[in-house]
Amino acid sequence: MPKQKRVVIGGGAEAIIYREGSGANARAIKHRPRKSYRHPQIDKEFRESRTRREARVLEKAKRIGLCVPKVLSVKESEGVLEIEHVAGRKARDVLEDAKVSMKRKLEVCREIGTGVALLHSHGIVHGDLTTSNFIVGKKGVCFIDFGLSFHSDRLEDKAVDLHLLKRAIESKHWKRSDAFFSAAVEGYKENYGQANDVLARLSVVEARGRYKHKN
Ligand SMILES: Nc1ncnc2c1ncn2[C@@H]1O[C@H](COP(=O)(O)OP(=O)(O)OP(=O)(O)O)[C@@H](O)[C@H]1O
Ligand SMILES: [Mg+2]
Repeated sequence: MPKQKRVVIGGGAEAIIYREGSGANARAIKHRPRKSYRHPQIDKEFRESRTRREARVLEKAKRIGLCVPKVLSVKESEGVLEIEHVAGRKARDVLEDAKVSMKRKLEVCREIGTGVALLHSHGIVHGDLTTSNFIVGKKGVCFIDFGLSFHSDRLEDKAVDLHLLKRAIESKHWKRSDAFFSAAVEGYKENYGQANDVLARLSVVEARGRYKHKN
C-alpha cells in the first residue's frame, strides 16, 4: 500500500496529532514522543499510561453513547494511539465565529453540558474540559482528548471538572462566558440526576479558589 500523506493537525506539550488518509477513511494519530528531559523509565511509564488511559476511556465513552472517535489501534510502547478522525471544527472556533448565530452557539454549549452529564453519570471525569477538546461535526458535539481522564464517583472530582470547563470558557470566550456556561449547565442538569449536588460542590470549589487568591 502506498504511504498515505500525514498532516499535522494539532499538538501541545505532550503530543503531536496527525491526520492520515481522507474522507470516511481519515484517521487521527496521536503520538506522545519521548521527552529527553525526563528520566527514561518515568517517561516510558508516563507515555504508556496516558496512551492506555485515553484508549480505554474513549472505548468506554463510546459504549455509553457519547460521540467520541472510535479507537482503531493502540501501540502503548510507542505512545501511539490511532483513532477515527472527526470532521468538523473545534467548539473554540465555532463559539468565536461572528457568522455563527448566538442561538447555535448556545445549542453547542448545551450539548457540551449534555455530554459532560453522560460522562459524569457513568463515573467518568474528563480532566481537560476546554473548548478545544470538543469537535462540532455532523453528528453533533464530539469529545476528544481523554489523556487526563479517570474514573471517579466523587462529587469533588466532578465539580473540579466543571470548574475547569467554566475557567476555560471564561478565558477563551470572555465576552459571552456567562451565557455559554449557563447553557452548558442547563444541558448538564437535564441529563444528570445528581447535577444539583455537583453544582453545589462547584460553589464550594470556587469559594476555595477566591479565598486562595486573596491570601
Ligand atoms: N479524532 C480527532 N479528529 C479530529 N481532530 C482531532 C482528533 N483528535 C485530535 N484532533 C485535533 O488535534 C487537536 C489536539 O488533539 P488533543 O486535544 O487530543 O491533543 P493535546 O491537547 O495535545 O493532548 P494532551 O492534552 O493529551 O497533551 C485537537 O484540538 C483537534 O483539533
Ligand atoms: Mg486538547
